[in-house]
Amino acid sequence: MVAAGRAAESAREEPLFVDPYAADFVAAGGMEEESIGTDAATREWDSFSSYLPVRTRFFDDYLLDATRTVRQVVIIAAGLDTRAFRLPITPEVTVYELDTPEMLAFKQQVLDARGAQPAGRRAPVPVDLREDWGSPLAAAGFEPSIPSAWLVEGLLSYLSPEHNDRLLSGISDRSAAGSRLSMEYLSVDAVALMATTVTGEFGTELQAMWRGGGVAEPAQPWLDRHGWDAETFDTYERAAAYHREMPPPGDPDLDRFADEARNGLVVARRR
Ligand SMILES: C[S@@+](CC[C@H](N)C(=O)[O-])C[C@H]1O[C@@H](n2cnc3c(N)ncnc32)[C@H](O)[C@@H]1O
Repeated sequence: MVAAGRAAESAREEPLFVDPYAADFVAAGGMEEESIGTDAATREWDSFSSYLPVRTRFFDDYLLDATRTVRQVVIIAAGLDTRAFRLPITPEVTVYELDTPEMLAFKQQVLDARGAQPAGRRAPVPVDLREDWGSPLAAAGFEPSIPSAWLVEGLLSYLSPEHNDRLLSGISDRSAAGSRLSMEYLSVDAVALMATTVTGEFGTELQAMWRGGGVAEPAQPWLDRHGWDAETFDTYERAAAYHREMPPPGDPDLDRFADEARNGLVVARRR
């Protein structure tokens, strides 16, 4: 679904980013490009596909800025994120990509078929984020004593609030002072509201992947408690800054969710 959104954005005039691999993932995943607009032509899809480019561009800008000084990037739950390939990251930077073995294998197959080459060094790290992911990350070469840049996009609904808190502890323990973190924050309430908006076959499939997730505390105190100075951004303001129309959904359920989730784009610096 995320790749489909990125493929659609990449094909637009004046896109906020171009992901040259997104359409390949969609095709390899068995989803016909033409069917995106029909199978998933729901109010959720319209809302998600106007928001997704804003979130993607926000995190692109964060990562490009962070890699001007930081030499190690960790993308938590990287999924079909192709920033290691499509962003002009300096060659000295290593991008660690954490996700499940199945996801990373699927991704590699598609990237290899395209002959894709990363801009710097890239290290896929197969893990279960509910288990020990720190040891495989260290074995792949990550160095906790030097600053790092972390990205957590599109994940928090897939883990329980307890696992999300443990995940942030794990990130914080491995982040030297001056490290940076950007995430898409979702409260427990936002995930519960999101669950009421996704319905039908599409919604059932999507919700089967969620783990009752979100975070029990508001973003800033949560990050502060873990040692981060955080700033949150309003999605609608970001969309306007990118000259992109992101109309309020205009549906009571989706409006409530959009309201709860609107300050979900976060950047933080480790004290
Ligand atoms: C919606 S996708 C977001 C992917 C990517 N961050 C992006 O925005 O394109 C959620 C990702 O979380 C991964 N994920 C969910 N639960 C996980 C777990 N327990 N361990 C590792 N990865 C997990 C999935 O495999 C999937 O790639």
